[in-house]
Amino acid sequence: MSELSVNHLLGIKYLNENDMNLIFETADHFKEVINRSIKKVPSLRDITIANLFFENSTRTRLSFELAEKRLSADVINFSAASSSVKKGETLIDTVNNILSMKVDMVVMRHPNPGAGVFLSKNVKASIVNAGDGAHEHPTQALLDTYSIREKFGDVAGKNVVIVGDILHSRVALSNIFALKLLGANVKVCGPKTLIPKFIESLGVQVETNLRTALQWCDVANMLRVQNERMAINYFPSTREYTQQFGVNKMLLDSLDKEIVIMHPGPINRGVEITSDVADSKQSIILDQVENGVAIRMAVIYLLASKIK
Ligand code: NCD
Repeated sequence: MSELSVNHLLGIKYLNENDMNLIFETADHFKEVINRSIKKVPSLRDITIANLFFENSTRTRLSFELAEKRLSADVINFSAASSSVKKGETLIDTVNNILSMKVDMVVMRHPNPGAGVFLSKNVKASIVNAGDGAHEHPTQALLDTYSIREKFGDVAGKNVVIVGDILHSRVALSNIFALKLLGANVKVCGPKTLIPKFIESLGVQVETNLRTALQWCDVANMLRVQNERMAINYFPSTREYTQQFGVNKMLLDSLDKEIVIMHPGPINRGVEITSDVADSKQSIILDQVENGVAIRMAVIYLLASKIK
């Protein structure tokens, strides 16, 4: 089994366990490559990739671009803020114009859920979803589960709590799919108003008390409150949110076990986690970022091998 079952990476929902393991094994190889003094391989010399970012991004955009360059692909970058989208061009027109420059793969972040699926049905290129609204963020979930596997040797049987704004988070949904696929036990924790009603149907449990959730888990994945996706107030104030759902060093030290802290970034220091937690030895936040490049190299490499 050395091929992905899919031609696009649109969401974890479309992957099976073999796909995940193949991506992890390929990432193991690339992680070794990017730690060499010559960090580049010629694998994708004949592939052109367009990174289309219709929504803000720092880590994900840089990580994809670096992954593509490490594989020796030709790369073009597009960000909506400086493009003709502002002049009223449709998504299909924008993308088809870019594809007529002979682009093989499109990495796209878009504010609309399902934008990647829509594109995959309408254009001739391999599509990688780099985050579609509050829907999925598959490479983030891959790098998160890869980081758990790296830390513990295995994801199966681990207790993982995802804390925060579950309702608006694509990281939460993709992580739930990935963790369940690999056999982890998953709980979500946050204000009731930020936990979708359907969540238990995904096989996860809801825990509204943070201390109880932390006491149960091996890993806490702390999410940012997605204020930009909220038209109304979902909790009284940031201060109250932090009091109930923020992790500080005192809380962490008061547990009778040493848990691992993860965060996809960007961190709002002092809101979901304090600086001393973010920078503590229990945090693997920067390992996640490092693993992101290897995971994205693996995804792009495996999808590109299906184009030829
Ligand atoms: C996440 C995103 O954009 O969904 N960040 C990321 O990709 N590193 C999470 C967030 O914005 O809070």
